Amino acid sequence: MYRIAVVAGDGTGPEMIAEGIKVLQAAALKYGFNFETKFFDFGGERYLRTGEVLPEGAVDELRTYDAIYLGAIGHPDVKPGILEKGILLRLRFELDQYINLRPVKLYPGVECPLVGKGPEHIDFVVVRENTEGLYAGTGGLLREGTPDEVAIQTSVNTRMGVERCLRYAFDYCQRRNNQKKLTLCGKTNVLTYAFGLWERVFNTVGAEYPEIKRDYAHVDAICMWMVKNPEWFDVIVTDNMFGDIITDLGAMIQGGMGIAAGGNINPQGVSMFEPIGGSAPKYTGQNVINPLAAICAGAMMLDVLGEAEAAQIIEEAVKQVCATKLKSLAAGRMGYSTSEVGDLVVAHL
Ligand code: IPM
Ligand code: MN
Repeated sequence: MYRIAVVAGDGTGPEMIAEGIKVLQAAALKYGFNFETKFFDFGGERYLRTGEVLPEGAVDELRTYDAIYLGAIGHPDVKPGILEKGILLRLRFELDQYINLRPVKLYPGVECPLVGKGPEHIDFVVVRENTEGLYAGTGGLLREGTPDEVAIQTSVNTRMGVERCLRYAFDYCQRRNNQKKLTLCGKTNVLTYAFGLWERVFNTVGAEYPEIKRDYAHVDAICMWMVKNPEWFDVIVTDNMFGDIITDLGAMIQGGMGIAAGGNINPQGVSMFEPIGGSAPKYTGQNVINPLAAICAGAMMLDVLGEAEAAQIIEEAVKQVCATKLKSLAAGRMGYSTSEVGDLVVAHL
């Protein structure tokens, strides 16, 4: 019996999560595992009602679950930063989910904006460090609001944090058993302190993995190659900020936010799985948002929980639905409603 904490969140989060749970239930029935869910109402609505972002004790309660299934955080009536930092980033940090795992995979039948590229060219995974870097919140303002003000925001890179991320990436690349190539994405020509550390640890840890090819590219070049030659990549490892940026680009080349899923992983603790597209407020309640990203996040959750076969079969069903049913992955243009897409995946299961 898996205990899953559900934070459906804002906007279209609840609609997407409902389809994800529908698919998880079908997979549970087929593969003979059980799960129970508890819903937590964290998000913009609750904040606007109570003034509270995360209630006292919430993080400790979430810690007792086997996994967290997250819809989306972000509300148009709440100032940017409050919910993102107060919920999403706080959970990532306090639950020490130091890996953000984001597969970039183009499924057959999905429209790709890159001319001449197909599923055989786009299949890689980004391992994004998820607890440090520019996201650490280190810095501050001096003389705020005056003509002389100063804003400082520092990237924090600890050897421990860098090393555990790189080790995860090498292990993941090994397990994935694809090209056996790990690309470090950095900026060693300018950010010499931070990425100097990344590069040194990359080479030291990499020496323990002789069968993994080590590759390096600057972040700007990675953006170019992801468009020009995405087939070069197998696993990319990078810091928090660069990982944030390149995975939005990754989502676009795999068919858009409708399909892009990610896992915030603490290999020794509680992990959290989410569609990476956000709350899409303008589509809320219309039954038009694409739930496949949430469904894929659910599959990633099963994989990490140890239900690899069920995870794989969900991915297969998603692939089938993309290849044979959907007109587009974009909200409102799928040819089906949100709940119908969930039903199609269940039917394929
Ligand atoms: C993501 C998002 C978040 C991030 C925001 C909402 C804080 O863009 O998950 O990629 O920057 O990490
Ligand atoms: Mn992002």
